[in-house]
Amino acid sequence: MRILITGAAGFIGSHLVDRLLDDGHEVIAADDVSGGSEANLGGRTALHRVDVAAPEFADLVAAEAPEVICHLAAQVSVRASVEDPLRDGQVNVLGTVNVLEAAHRAGTRKVISTSSCAVYGVPDALPVGPDGPLRAASPYAASKAAGEAYVRMYAELHGLDYTIMVPGNVYGPRQTPEGEAGVISIFTAALLEGKPTIVYGDGSNTRDYIYVADVVDAYARALTAGSRARVNLGTGVQTSDRLLHTLIAEAAGAPDAPGTAPFRLGDLPAMALDPAPGAEVLGWTPKTPLSDGLRATVEWARSR
Ligand SMILES: NC(=O)c1ccc[n+]([C@@H]2O[C@H](COP(=O)([O-])OP(=O)(O)OC[C@H]3O[C@@H](n4cnc5c(N)ncnc54)[C@H](O)[C@@H]3O)[C@@H](O)[C@H]2O)c1
Repeated sequence: MRILITGAAGFIGSHLVDRLLDDGHEVIAADDVSGGSEANLGGRTALHRVDVAAPEFADLVAAEAPEVICHLAAQVSVRASVEDPLRDGQVNVLGTVNVLEAAHRAGTRKVISTSSCAVYGVPDALPVGPDGPLRAASPYAASKAAGEAYVRMYAELHGLDYTIMVPGNVYGPRQTPEGEAGVISIFTAALLEGKPTIVYGDGSNTRDYIYVADVVDAYARALTAGSRARVNLGTGVQTSDRLLHTLIAEAAGAPDAPGTAPFRLGDLPAMALDPAPGAEVLGWTPKTPLSDGLRATVEWARSR
């Protein structure tokens, strides 16, 4: 299949490039390299340097005529979105509209788009299912929720098929401190270098961590399944900041003795995603235990 990936030079996007090339697909990689790195592609495919919100992106889609677009390019930082909500909206809302319009005009069959668990804000109960109410608590969450609305609207208006992916906190090799699971990069780098680490509050805030190979497996399945589905890419398991520190310290062979600081304003207290029912339509389940995924992530960081 001929597949265009936006955000292909990024953390998740580059793993998806690897996975789809390994599966024998033709991959067109697009990224403006504002966040990712061409090195993540390891020379496996050419990179089209283009802004997803620019007219040149539509030209690329028209010229390449992909059957499916996997849309991962985004402004990914919650903090940056609070500081510059216009820039966040430019990339995450207008960029998504540009991707959908270009796909529609080029006759693309399906767009697999990327939202975030941030759209749920503080849910009434955990784990939150894929029909949980959207309660954006940051410009980033609002722009991701708006992107979802546009994806659904293009299906209704133009019959453009979709799967909406809603990842929890994704971690693994090539991740950077900026993303939603950035704490794993930060703890890993500090613990490997013998530098101090900080856990906020009493360390009881939780997140749902999902290994990157499991995430890209869901995208690979969605090429041929999950029509008009919305899928939570999570494990349903909450991991506290304090337990996460212990697990990374173990993997790094470092002392498990973080310093503490007060909770930060705006930090959400807890998250866990119920992948059912969407995951069933993809035949997808997360397979990588957190301890195995963290070991692989720490080994990758050690080797750099
Ligand atoms: N990592 C996580 O924990 C997580 C969780 C939920 C959702 N997501 C979403 O997954 C997707 C991938 O995130 P990631 O963690 O790989 O982050 P990343 O920063 O590594 O990848 C994003 C890529 O998009 C590119 N990009 C940014 N703006 C662009 C633009 N205007 N035009 C073209 N390319 C642009 C960046 O250069 C980067 O390579 C994003 O949509 C993000 O919001 C990530």
